[in-house]
This record gives sequence, C-alpha cells and structure tokens, in this order.
Amino acid sequence: MSAEFKTVLAPMAGYTDFAFRAICRDYGVDLTVTEMVSSKALVMGNALSRRMLYREGADKPSFCQIFGHEPNVMAASVQIPEMSVYEGVDINMGCPVRKIVSSGDGSALLENVPLASRCISAVKLALKGKPLSVKFRLGVSDSSQAVDFAKMCADSGADFITVHFRTRKQMYSGSADYSLLPKIAKIGIPVIANGDVASREQCLRLSDMGASGVAVGRGALGRPYLFSELQGKSFRFDVLDAIVRHAELLLKVFDERVVANEMKKHVAAYLKGKRNGKSVAIAAMSAHTLAEILTPCRIFFETYPDLRSIEQ
Ligand SMILES: Cc1cc2nc3c(=O)[nH]c(=O)nc-3n(C[C@H](O)[C@H](O)[C@H](O)COP(=O)(O)O)c2cc1C
Repeated sequence: MSAEFKTVLAPMAGYTDFAFRAICRDYGVDLTVTEMVSSKALVMGNALSRRMLYREGADKPSFCQIFGHEPNVMAASVQIPEMSVYEGVDINMGCPVRKIVSSGDGSALLENVPLASRCISAVKLALKGKPLSVKFRLGVSDSSQAVDFAKMCADSGADFITVHFRTRKQMYSGSADYSLLPKIAKIGIPVIANGDVASREQCLRLSDMGASGVAVGRGALGRPYLFSELQGKSFRFDVLDAIVRHAELLLKVFDERVVANEMKKHVAAYLKGKRNGKSVAIAAMSAHTLAEILTPCRIFFETYPDLRSIEQ
C-alpha cells in the first residue's frame, strides 16, 4: 500500500454531517464527502439543503455529493456560492432507496447510461477545473455492465470513481464482491473501493488489486479513529470528548432541538458494543434536550472510566 493510497469517508445521509466529517479529519481521513444533497433543492434555494453545505475550514479536502438527473440543474447546483468551499463534487449514481430511484436519481442512472454521461459532462464543465468523482454500484441486479459504466464515467469527464461493490438489488445485504476491481482499475482513472472495508489488511489487498483508495461508510460510524487504524498510525480516541465535540460543532449551525435529535443516532454509534452502553443510547432516544443526552453519557463514563478512551 503506497503513500498515495487514500482513505475516504463515504457519504452517508443522516450521518456524515459536517461535525462528524471534522472529527474523522482529526484521525487522518484523506477525503470527506457530504451527505447527498438534492441538486434541485440547491438550485431552488432550499434553506436546509444550503445549510447542509456548511463545513469546518479545517476539514479539507472535502467533496460535496449531489444527486439529480437533469444535467442543467446539476450543473447549476455546483455553481451556487455555498459550493465554492468544497474542493470537488461527487455525483451519486448508486443510491438504491426507492424514493430516489423512482425520481430518476441515484442508481436509476445505472439504467440510463446516455443521461448519466450527460449529467457527468455538464457538471464537469460547470466545475471549471475542480475535480469531479462519480459514486456508483456494480449494477442493478448483476455486475455485467460495471466495467462499461466505469469507462463511461471516465470518458464523460470524471476524475475518479468510487465503486460500491454491491448491486442495487443487494441493497446492503451479502458482502461486497471485489472480483471486478482489477478490471475496473485498468480503465485509466483512479478507483476508490467501497463496501465492508474495516481493516488495514483489507486495504492492502484492495491496493494490490488496483484500488487507489478505500471509502469507508458504516465501519467509521462511532469509530472515526478507524482512518488512523487503516493507515497504520497510532491514535488516542476519547469517546466522551468526541460526543461533546460533535454536539458543540453542530450547535454552530443548528438549534438545540435539531442537534439533540441528530445526536441520538450518533450517541448510539459511539456507544455501540460498549457494555451497558445500550441503555444510555435507549435513554437518549427519548431525550428532548441536549442535556438529557449528554448527562447520561457523562455519568456512563464516570461509572466506566475504562471504556472512555481507545488507544493504539
Ligand atoms: C445510513 C446510510 C446512508 C447512506 N447515504 C449515502 C449517501 O447519501 N450517498 C451515497 O452515495 N451513499 C450512501 N450510503 C452508502 C455508503 O456510502 C456506502 O456506499 C455503503 O454503506 C457501503 O460502504 P460500507 O460497507 O463501508 O458501509 C449510505 C449508507 C448508509 C448505511
């Protein structure tokens, strides 16, 4: 695995908010990506969508992921002022969620290659030299078109691709099948491998198969230090400090009620697998204020100080 091998925080709606991205940055992630944002909502001036583009200055480089299917709308969305803080843009062509697919977005574009190509070219042109990546799945129900789709992305102007090595039909079941990685890696642009990555050994294997990096999604939830582990670097992670920092960062942009709601799932992720952590996560679920979430967390770590920090 060369020094060029990159680690990427995969986009996850509802999870990879700017605060979580900033915390992953503390643990050496090479690239972060926002949650997917509707290009249409951005162009129409939707306040929440535009607010989702806030990012911490130190979280750099970072890409904004957009979804849509109208080339002109997608191109316009990357030209709004809020987008200028991002170093690049990623187009979502992999989302399997029914609501997204039925609107012609996300993985629906796997079934409309000419339109997918037009979306990529239009966004690339609008980015005026900034890098563009495309994230997609192996295919709808099999992987027979995956190499051709990857080539199309390169020919249409993508600078690199992130491939989730599952089909849409698989959703999140089964395991990622990396058998096509060597072929896809030969198309001429860097390939970021995605799906079930959780160890440095896996990164070494994927690097040998031709990947230029890995994108990690679920494995990083509650465990932002995973990026240090993947890079073979030492780290110290204080779980309570991370929870408090996460909440404090979110308060910069959202009001307390929203932050309390957002923190519920993050607290569950940070406490996952810790003995007796589940009862705190369950208590947090019915909280209305941030204090009702943070106080039980503080008590938990006072009671079990040995669970508070993870070092390697
Ligand atoms: C809760 C959740 C939300 C996700 N949201 C997005 C998204 O907004 N955009 C996207 O391209 N993929 C999204 N994904 C897919 C992930 O980016 C990633 O491709 C997938 O989880 C496989 O990687 P993993 O095994 O490392 O989790 C999401 C996945 C999860 C679990």
